[in-house]
Amino acid sequence: MSAEELHLLRDIFSRACGFMLREDLKFIAERRLAPRLELLSLRDFTAYARYLRFDARGADELETAIDLLVPHETYFFREPVQLRCFENELMPKILERKERIRSLHVWSAGCSTGEEPYTLSMLLSAMPSFDGWDLDILGTDLSRKALGTARKAEYGPMALRATTPEQQAKYFEKLEGGRVRLLQKYRESVRFGQLNLLDLAAVSVLPRFDVIFCRNVLIYFDQATRRRVVEQFFDRLTDGGHLLLGHSENLLQFSTRFELVQLEGDLVYRRPGP
Ligand SMILES: C[S@@+](CC[C@H](N)C(=O)[O-])C[C@H]1O[C@@H](n2cnc3c(N)ncnc32)[C@H](O)[C@@H]1O
Repeated sequence: MSAEELHLLRDIFSRACGFMLREDLKFIAERRLAPRLELLSLRDFTAYARYLRFDARGADELETAIDLLVPHETYFFREPVQLRCFENELMPKILERKERIRSLHVWSAGCSTGEEPYTLSMLLSAMPSFDGWDLDILGTDLSRKALGTARKAEYGPMALRATTPEQQAKYFEKLEGGRVRLLQKYRESVRFGQLNLLDLAAVSVLPRFDVIFCRNVLIYFDQATRRRVVEQFFDRLTDGGHLLLGHSENLLQFSTRFELVQLEGDLVYRRPGP
């Protein structure tokens, strides 16, 4: 892949989903996309870029290419320090604020194969003070393939790598070959939908959420896209609602309408309000 071809593809992917095909990803891209060129009988990456842009089947191929390049890495109980903060520091405040309404709406934006929203369902179901509340967790992702896995809720050992044997026994039923299926009880409050975070119109018709988790997604975007997506999150939060990012992501590079809240173990973002 030449430098020009890398530029062509970077432009296509970044417009489509925000993904920045950086210089250091060139060899990975080359290796993962080479079988596609062969399958489509295309001579080089310039022809591939042309196919993605102008062929009638270009949109389908773009979806395949994005799935091959964008990392879907995730697992249950990822970033436990942040999850403990959510449970012990944020949730008590939210429970107090919403005590009269007794409903909680959470969005896991960029949920990949579902481990993140399901983890939230498990954590919230374990909170006694949350009994009888109306809980709605929405998981969205760009990848239809990842969402297919999420809806099936069947996982292998990699998804369970941060899960204790006690948690495994409590939340899952065993399947063959070391695989597990999440119990129905923890699936009931979680629904999934395909959504591109760059699609302003689609995001703007979502309801308002009390908490948005968007972890390990913004790192793949350039600064301008990050800012745009974060501004949309602000608009989709209830007054006083919180945004939680991955541990390597923060909004310090640009000014936003969010308040920065330093919890004991985490930095979170809050839409001003009661
Ligand atoms: C590394 S995974 C993170 C999963 C989970 N949030 C976690 O932290 O474990 C990143 C996910 O973001 C999704 N993604 C990337 N760009 C997106 C976009 N423009 N719109 C929606 N989802 C996107 C990818 O498909 C991928 O599943």
